Amino acid sequence: MFNINFFLPTKLIFGVDSLEKLPKEAKKLGKKALIVTGRSSTKKTGLLNRTVEMLKKAGIESVIYDKIVPNPLSTHVDEAGELAKNEGVDFVIGLGGGSSIDSAKCIAIVAANKGKIWDYVDVVGGKKPKKALPIVAITTTHGTGTEADPFAVITNPETKEKVGIGYDVTIPTLSIVDPKLMITLPKDQTAYTSMDAFYHSIEAFFNVNANPFSDVLALEAMKRIITNLPWAYTNGEDLEARTNLAWANTAAGLTETITGVIANHSIEHAISGFYQEVPHGLGLCITGPYLFEKLFNKIYSRLAVVGREVFGVYETNEKRAGMLAIEKLRDFQENFGLNKKLREFKVKKSDFEEMAKVAFKIMLGPIKATPGKLKEKDIIEILEKAY
Ligand SMILES: [Fe+2]
Repeated sequence: MFNINFFLPTKLIFGVDSLEKLPKEAKKLGKKALIVTGRSSTKKTGLLNRTVEMLKKAGIESVIYDKIVPNPLSTHVDEAGELAKNEGVDFVIGLGGGSSIDSAKCIAIVAANKGKIWDYVDVVGGKKPKKALPIVAITTTHGTGTEADPFAVITNPETKEKVGIGYDVTIPTLSIVDPKLMITLPKDQTAYTSMDAFYHSIEAFFNVNANPFSDVLALEAMKRIITNLPWAYTNGEDLEARTNLAWANTAAGLTETITGVIANHSIEHAISGFYQEVPHGLGLCITGPYLFEKLFNKIYSRLAVVGREVFGVYETNEKRAGMLAIEKLRDFQENFGLNKKLREFKVKKSDFEEMAKVAFKIMLGPIKATPGKLKEKDIIEILEKAY
């Protein structure tokens, strides 16, 4: 038996050169936009200028906020939210990777309401926002899936809490996924973002609320990533591989909206909340296989499906096929140098207890959606194995 709840009122435009559709669509949202982006990559590639010019031709004025960092910060969101208010912008464009788009979602809340973003973080007692400015997501990476879900991940630098929020008002009004914008993604980011999408899919597949809708997208996304990441990693300009990874990422975003991730994301948010230099996709690869081993007795038949359908394992015994799936996952990650240890990032063991507490506080939903009843001590055990 299963239940399905799905709400995604986004106009999604996917495909090579889909950015060309931006002016026509953006005109419907107003005359002044705040473009939210990172410090360098959209400037280096010329994408920021190109976007500003495209909007200008459509009669839309742009205000730029370009301070977003990987693992984006609530302080930047508050600052940009004030800027949006003062400038009286009509909508917010997230231009770049997940950090820029997630920040744009949060800025859209601050711009339309009183107070700061942390006042609207439900897991720390904040209220649910009733409104936000319209959000446009233009993604330059194939990770996070944020263009196809309501979620935004944001870190409070004071409390080190890295939380996920997601409301109906943070669903993008318009999402443009143009694989051509992804060809300049460096090798390491190519691997990290693809594996983020992979973990969204595999975690949704193991989620206690998994259902046929998310299963079909999750398996499909995993297969596409395993087949295409090696090609895009070898030749970043392989547009066929980029298109497949871009779709896998969007499909994985849909699985997040339909079903959602499990405890691996809770653990990773604790890790990169404490140690912001750990890239999200890499953090997931470090702890993921240990979590799946921990859950083995609860998930081996689903792991066996992943083994057979995604990794081409030929094994009729369920448990052996499940074990082989984890082995193949580790082997795959090894190709891209993703089987790292936490100690390589100077993570302190003495933080593990606090990190487990933070995981439970800020990402309890995914922990509850994990098969078996995980306790703080289980999270600590996984962190120790990954050390
Ligand atoms: Fe993620």
